[in-house]
Amino acid sequence: MAQDNVVRAEFARPLSEDAERSWTLPSRYYTDPAIWQAEKEKIFYRSWIYVCHESQIAKAGDYATTAIVDQNVAVVRGRDAKLRAFYNVCQHRAHELLTGTGNLKAVITCPYHAWAYDLEGKLRTARNCENVKGFDKADFTLPQVRVETLANLVFVNLDPDAAPLAEQAPNLEADLRANVPHWDALEFTNSYDFGGRPIEAGWKVVVDNYVECYHCATAHPAFADMIEIPAYENSTDGITALQIGPKIHADNSAYKLTQEDSIDRAYFWYLWPTTTINMLPGRGDVMITNVVPQGPGRTAFHNDRFAVGGEPEIPERQNYLQNILGVEDMELCESVQRGLVSKGYDQGRFMVDEARSGEGEHAAHFFHKLVLDALEG
Ligand code: FES
Ligand SMILES: [Fe+2]
Repeated sequence: MAQDNVVRAEFARPLSEDAERSWTLPSRYYTDPAIWQAEKEKIFYRSWIYVCHESQIAKAGDYATTAIVDQNVAVVRGRDAKLRAFYNVCQHRAHELLTGTGNLKAVITCPYHAWAYDLEGKLRTARNCENVKGFDKADFTLPQVRVETLANLVFVNLDPDAAPLAEQAPNLEADLRANVPHWDALEFTNSYDFGGRPIEAGWKVVVDNYVECYHCATAHPAFADMIEIPAYENSTDGITALQIGPKIHADNSAYKLTQEDSIDRAYFWYLWPTTTINMLPGRGDVMITNVVPQGPGRTAFHNDRFAVGGEPEIPERQNYLQNILGVEDMELCESVQRGLVSKGYDQGRFMVDEARSGEGEHAAHFFHKLVLDALEG
């Protein structure tokens, strides 16, 4: 193998530019607390993280919160209709300011000692501050965080110098709109998780599993009955990857499709590092997942569902997605995480054929390179 093809020569087996020859990241990348610390600093604190759909915080005073690992962030719609994001922490003694989602009448009031900030993050009242020597409210403005929208979705980034998301993923919005013609008519319906608990596997195991369908025929029998896996298409573009299932079987063991169902394909977008956007065959509902890393071997899922006109989910389909497909993937990932600490495993190969067929694992290779690039950047 030519030396210049090797991304990391010091790995026992090289991660190479060439997906067809490359080995995977060594298992310590999935288990070592030092790698996890580096990922926090170099990936999660520097990347665009999905928060919610714009319509969920449409009115003045509406807010949503999210945690980027241990960094709590609030996004607030101001009276001027602008979105602003702040570190969600009181500048007095660090109590968290907001939880969940909601609407603020006039100010953000800290639950601890009732300091109150306006919707732009400026400290307005701090009881007795006029009697505190040299106290200047201007010293206590909430530190801002970058916030942007792309295709009606709200993202935040803790890195003040990060390139805009639209620059990092220049084709994503057009691609979503081209394949989801009803994109602008989608309304948020509900959030849910899988199995009511975090998954005992790290975020990279989760993403590895998400970006390939080599496992689908064996591990998701009903999914493979609905979506023709050999017809699968799999591509990568900058910091995004897309899998399309272009052929489906209406009569299948996952959930039944009817004449009224307008979407007869499946789409799975991955946006680095932790967002997935999913449209399965049916009425065109969209599921957006924020993969929430919680530790080297633990991840939570925040799934938001959207439907035209806010139509509720069909129970059969909801059950399949949440309790069958989602749980099948959780169990796969948890087994892999246990396997990654085995002294009997270090690196695997990406199953990538010359034709880059859709069942191949070249998007997992693309992901491993993004991880390594970020850690070394
Ligand atoms: S910590 Fe917020 S008012 Fe004291
Ligand atoms: Fe899966």
